[in-house]
Amino acid sequence: MTSGFKLAPSILSADFSALGTALQLCDDGGAHYIHVDVMDNQFVPNLTIGPPVVRSLRSLTKKHVDVHMMVIEPEKLVEPFAKAGADGITFHIEATDDPKAVIDLIRSTGKDVGISLKPKTPVSDIVPFMDQVDLVLVMSVEPGFGGQGYIDGSTERVAEIKQLLIEKCLQDRVQIEVDGGIKLHNAKVVIDAGADILVAGSEVFKADDPVGVMRSFYDLARS
Ligand code: DX5
Ligand code: ZN
Repeated sequence: MTSGFKLAPSILSADFSALGTALQLCDDGGAHYIHVDVMDNQFVPNLTIGPPVVRSLRSLTKKHVDVHMMVIEPEKLVEPFAKAGADGITFHIEATDDPKAVIDLIRSTGKDVGISLKPKTPVSDIVPFMDQVDLVLVMSVEPGFGGQGYIDGSTERVAEIKQLLIEKCLQDRVQIEVDGGIKLHNAKVVIDAGADILVAGSEVFKADDPVGVMRSFYDLARS
């Protein structure tokens, strides 16, 4: 049941002066995705990574580069990130009045389409778009910073989304990614609730042994 599990280490918690090293650790740890947190100081208070950095990462890894755009006017950045080499591009439903247009734009680039929702956004808001995306990214912290605590009610939201996907026969087509406060101690319950992909930033990159932590996530998913 959990054999398709994928770990997406977030480089937000890595040493930005040594991103190549962070990618090497992800290789050694067997991570499937590289999660890139894009923040614009408007949708969220923080300011992080733009397309040039993604282009550099692209040149160093064959892994799936998973761009999580926490930005207003997401339509303006879809093409730059696609051209920089992202494999998947996720936008926030709260950041646009026209989610369908953003979905169509990402789709037109040939990249995987992700839609994300903040912890207080009703699940019902994303339902009309579920059959048009490849990924639903469930935020389990308020977006903006790594190292925050997991919001407990998130597990029920994951289960609710999984159930909706099953009812719509979309569970094999649409993956659920959970992002924020994911640690080794809470990962299993989130996977069991229906997560296909877990993002982990501080748990991986603030650890003494990031490779060991990544391997432990996969061990948990198999258990
Ligand atoms: C938060 C970001 C997350 C963050 C996760 O806005 O979207 O991806 O890097 O970091 P941790 O795992 O430390 O909560
Ligand atoms: Zn993220």
